[in-house]
Amino acid sequence: MNLKLKIWRQKDANTKGKMVEYPIAGIEEDMSFLEMLDVLNEELISKGEEPVEFDHDCREGICGACSLQINGEPHGPDRGVTTCQLHMRMFKDGDTITIEPFRATAFPVIKDLIVDRSSFDRIQQAGGFISVNTSGNTIDANSIPVNKDDADKSFNAATCIGCGACVAACKNASAMLFTAAKVSQFALLPQGQIEATDRVLNMVKQMDEEGFGNCSNTGACEIECPKGISLENIARMNREYLSASLKK
Ligand code: SF4
Ligand code: FES
Repeated sequence: MNLKLKIWRQKDANTKGKMVEYPIAGIEEDMSFLEMLDVLNEELISKGEEPVEFDHDCREGICGACSLQINGEPHGPDRGVTTCQLHMRMFKDGDTITIEPFRATAFPVIKDLIVDRSSFDRIQQAGGFISVNTSGNTIDANSIPVNKDDADKSFNAATCIGCGACVAACKNASAMLFTAAKVSQFALLPQGQIEATDRVLNMVKQMDEEGFGNCSNTGACEIECPKGISLENIARMNREYLSASLKK
């Protein structure tokens, strides 16, 4: 395939960025999207130009490092995949593809396509720890009965990889789906009850302080989430938040 790429180039956080066009030839449909960018970068390096900076790590959909707004959609046009799992067969010869960083005030651009998502780390840190005896008398997790339905819902919430696509998809740049997943994974389990009140209050407070917007129930986050995190989690977080507020 021969393609035209329109890529956001930005030297650093303090320099204004702009879209730059790059023609690229000989792209195989079995390549991943990131492999296509690797090909571009090899070409740029061989011409003595600066390669395009983008985030990646596992390249198998589990770490959440890759991002990219591709033709206006977080992680591109496929469903239930991250950018590293997106394949070039989703595009056709002659296509123009726009590639931008995730856009949100709370995700400032560091360089080119890389954004700073440490605001997510701080939300998780605000959630704190769970009290588990690790003094040598640790109770085997399987000895605490957990309702199967709750265990499944908790596990599903825990599959959130912290990629930030939910924020990039949201017109309000809301981090409710991410935060709700992190609240829900503990709220549904007996081990999560001890700190439940402080956890939800502190995580929501941090989420607001980081500059994320509020949820207006559009549901774009759920559609673009590569892990299928359900909006149900936001409803659960809101219930947890209300009951925690009444206890404080
Ligand atoms: S909820 Fe989905 S889109 Fe949002 S950070 Fe988690 S995995 Fe990514
Ligand atoms: S590089 Fe790890 S999820 Fe894409």
